[in-house]
Amino acid sequence: MADNDKKNSALKAASLVESDMVVGLGTGSTANYFIEAIAERKNNEGLKVTTVASSIVSARIAKQYGLEVVAIENLSSIDIYVDGADEVTADMTLLKGRGSDLVREKLLANASQQFYVLVDDSKLVKNIGDNFPIPIEVMPFAWQMVLTDLENSGGVGGLRENASGDGLAVTSHGSLVLDMHFNDKSSDELNSLLNAAPGVVEHGIFADLATTVFIGKNGIVELLKK
Ligand code: A5P
Repeated sequence: MADNDKKNSALKAASLVESDMVVGLGTGSTANYFIEAIAERKNNEGLKVTTVASSIVSARIAKQYGLEVVAIENLSSIDIYVDGADEVTADMTLLKGRGSDLVREKLLANASQQFYVLVDDSKLVKNIGDNFPIPIEVMPFAWQMVLTDLENSGGVGGLRENASGDGLAVTSHGSLVLDMHFNDKSSDELNSLLNAAPGVVEHGIFADLATTVFIGKNGIVELLKK
């Protein structure tokens, strides 16, 4: 059911895309449904869009579907960026970053006129951090100092391992990732803390960026808007 709900929210978002738009493609299982739906509209209806990808993985998938993908450095703004999320609060703050492209994801979200977030209702939380630690990309040489700094602010966690567990996760930006829990801080406080922390390249709290959240639930898609 959850996968159907993810797909339904992706289909709804894809139906709102118009020809000649520049569309940002997110990363993950839900974003993949969106990429597939855009490719179908291209093939069936002649939808003409230019896309930009938030990761090497999503760029490859889009190209396999025959979509035009341009490099991020060629663009200064985007019409719609569409991506999944790991957590969403009622005020549309997001937690992202289970993948490894936080820098690109936040850059695209910030450069977009509209940022559509696709989730099923399992992603809705009361507070950011309820279900996942906060992913924090750090400059490789800074990780120990950043960890200590964040521990002094009440954080608990450590370096993320790679998928096979035999080394450290490295982002496409070349950063290491700290996954940290903070029990007593609001997402606003965490956002400010992490924005100001030296050595932090980017982090997974996306505040005031989403414009519409598409929530798939039991076959229906509900919209949450600013
Ligand atoms: C990518 O870094 C993440 O932020 C994803 O958007 C997030 O993990 C959602 O993934 P799924 O769509 O696979 O649930």
